[in-house]
Amino acid sequence: MKKSLLALALLSVISISSAADYKAGDIVVRGGMTNVNPDSGKSAVLLGGADSTMSLSVDDNSQLGLNFVYFYDQNWAIEVLAATPFTHDVTIHDPNAVLNVDGAKLAEVTHLPPTISAIYYFQSDSSFKPYVGLGLNYTIFFDEGFEEAPKSLGLSNLELDSSLGLAAQIGADYQLNDKWHINASVRYIDIDSEATFDVGGSSIGKSDVNVDPTVFSILVGYKF
Ligand code: NI
Repeated sequence: MKKSLLALALLSVISISSAADYKAGDIVVRGGMTNVNPDSGKSAVLLGGADSTMSLSVDDNSQLGLNFVYFYDQNWAIEVLAATPFTHDVTIHDPNAVLNVDGAKLAEVTHLPPTISAIYYFQSDSSFKPYVGLGLNYTIFFDEGFEEAPKSLGLSNLELDSSLGLAAQIGADYQLNDKWHINASVRYIDIDSEATFDVGGSSIGKSDVNVDPTVFSILVGYKF
């Protein structure tokens, strides 16, 4: 009798500590580091509609990432990804020395990529809770501006239009206890913009900017 009571008590302790499943109505808030790593492919620069042989590339940036998750039930949740604005350097590649600016930092662009996703958590009896998600991203670019050197070459009026695209992710929570967890995720976001700019006062410059980043997040989460 004593032994079986003890076994029962042990079992309940183990199940409490290892399998705190999410349930309908749970709200999770997470904060931590989010890194936006653009596709390293280069985007061709057109001048007056013609290929200039120049191209652009965009570097990576890390910011404070925030995550809000609402659970419909044990498996399904809706997630909003927010962050402080990301600022990326735009580098120009000019192998044929059209403007003699190969490798120069051309501009800085700042963007916000809010993403809303439907998340599916797999059944898991352990503290490790993996999930997949599919969502929509809306990226707004602002504060676009050329550096001093390209300005002196007559480049001005840089603008990047906003982007609406799909986002896909995989991630997992590792539950430390009933309230706290560590979260890691990697997502791909389809972000395609078009940059337009003036050369010598006329609006002839154009480049598709396919940012298409891989986004890594490491966050600490708290369940309410
Ligand atoms: Ni794309």
